[in-house]
Amino acid sequence: MTHILDGKALAAEIRAELKTRVDRLAARGHRPGLAVILVGDDCASQVYVRNKIKACADTGITSLEFRMPADTSEEALLAKIAELNADPAVDGILVQMPVPRHIDARKVIDAIAPEKDVDGFHVCNAGALMIGKPGFLPCTPYGVMKLLEKAGCSIEGKHAVIVGRSNIVGKPQALLLLSKNATVTVAHSRTADLGAVTRTADILIAAVGRSKLITADMVKPGAVVIDVGMNRDENGRLCGDVDFAAVAPVAGAITPVPGGVGPMTIAMLLTNTVEAVERRLG
Ligand code: GUN
Repeated sequence: MTHILDGKALAAEIRAELKTRVDRLAARGHRPGLAVILVGDDCASQVYVRNKIKACADTGITSLEFRMPADTSEEALLAKIAELNADPAVDGILVQMPVPRHIDARKVIDAIAPEKDVDGFHVCNAGALMIGKPGFLPCTPYGVMKLLEKAGCSIEGKHAVIVGRSNIVGKPQALLLLSKNATVTVAHSRTADLGAVTRTADILIAAVGRSKLITADMVKPGAVVIDVGMNRDENGRLCGDVDFAAVAPVAGAITPVPGGVGPMTIAMLLTNTVEAVERRLG
């Protein structure tokens, strides 16, 4: 029978454990604080930010929300980040992506103090992951690794195929799987005969943002299928990059959308925020 990888349940477990760590820190006078900046009024970003703020409240983490208009200048955003970098009540800083086109996202990300970069996007944290040094891991690939671990999925020697090469998911996911001794292939929009590649995967991770791109004929029987996609189908319903109904009977294990990777991303953001405080306090 296909194993459904329940990210919602695992995220709840992680959040419960975090709450005890937060309570312990608060008792020592260091309640963790996360600053969330949203520039503009992108609908999906507003939902993501709302979910992150709510998760902070449920875990006892103080959140500070900064909503800035779409025409905010890059200078104003950088000034806000500088202010938060210097604020001892702020342990983590997150700028929700994407930012409006007139703002250089890389400049913004690298303006965040690396020790407060709980998204793990700063060039220092990306570099640390590259060479296997400690740093903050990007939340989505980190959450995927936790899901695989919880499912008892062995990684060493397995062929992992990642579809998508973003800095946020695909590339860091490849490095994390490599660090666990998987043989890793990164496929993308220019890959020739994508199905021929995905059919060789023991672990298949879809992170492209295209509804139901992965169909049953593209999956090896028994493969572990992780769906990072968060799209709307033709009826406006939330769906992933994997055609769940068709692929589930073929896969050995699969994540649903919603309730798979999404809640794990938030749980790992909270984990990084608590870690930021614990590292600072030593
Ligand atoms: N946009 C999509 N995913 C993310 C994420 O994990 N962090 C931030 N800051 N923006 C995002």
